[in-house]
Amino acid sequence: MKTILVATEKPFAKQAVDGIKEIVEKSGNKFKLLENYTDKQQLLDAVADADAIIIRSDKVTDEVMAAGKNLKIVVRAGAGYDNVDLEAATKRGIVVMNTPGQNSNAVAELVFGLLVFAVRNFYNGKSGTELKGKKLGILAFGQVGRNVARVAKGFDMDVYAYDAFCPKEAIEAAGVKAVDNQDALFENCDIVSLHIPATPETKESINYALVNKMKKGGIVINTARKEVINEAELIKLMEERQDLKYITDIAPDADADFKAKFEGRYFATPKKMGAQTAEANINAGLAAANQIVDFFATGNKKFQVNK
Ligand code: 3PG
Repeated sequence: MKTILVATEKPFAKQAVDGIKEIVEKSGNKFKLLENYTDKQQLLDAVADADAIIIRSDKVTDEVMAAGKNLKIVVRAGAGYDNVDLEAATKRGIVVMNTPGQNSNAVAELVFGLLVFAVRNFYNGKSGTELKGKKLGILAFGQVGRNVARVAKGFDMDVYAYDAFCPKEAIEAAGVKAVDNQDALFENCDIVSLHIPATPETKESINYALVNKMKKGGIVINTARKEVINEAELIKLMEERQDLKYITDIAPDADADFKAKFEGRYFATPKKMGAQTAEANINAGLAAANQIVDFFATGNKKFQVNK
């Protein structure tokens, strides 16, 4: 019998937790839950007897893995796994997986919730603009980017995308106009939606020079990661260009500064909300549980990310 720990500082919806518990117990394993923890020590204690952990944006560092003496597998219920120390996991022989695509519709829907809010001036009673006919640029055409494109078509937007790792033909096959590089996306589009992962290459890549390519009234919306933004440069640019808006689901480190300086042009959700729906939690949480059960039963490593 394996102990499968769900460790989520930001908890799943109850239906997801119930579903995970059922999968774990039906497979003859033990379910353990740590939710809403406020201190790293709680995670270190909880992982001590765990063979597997299901996490969200929770940080799984070498210290956490060292505390999990029996740990064989970490599954990030979601897409981005920049919160897991992959090198440390590999050294320790721990398999790390994600659950790609399971929460992408939820993130895509939030993009439009935030965009309507932005173009209607944060619902301040003043006349705004519409999304219809506007040029939307999608930076990275993965699962979330594809869902954003699908919803954007419903708004009758003119949809463009760039992805360094996805061939133009694949973008065009999805009915989206492919551009040659990210500069062209910013130059051409009224709104740019960020869907790049946080990697050494993308870190702080959304900078002064790039965003300054946008036309008057440009909006950057970030439902990806705060690390991709060069915060100091974006602040400098927004000081110089009163027409730009920055809307984000991941508050920057300089949130207070942005708030104080850019009233009516800046909005950050109080906590990352993109994947915070019952459906996304159920999809990603249950997928994570099934992947772990299958891994222990058959050795299946299909979604491993630390190869
Ligand atoms: C992801 O990478 O899957 C999303 O950013 C969702 O993150 P969350 O599970 O912390 O809401």
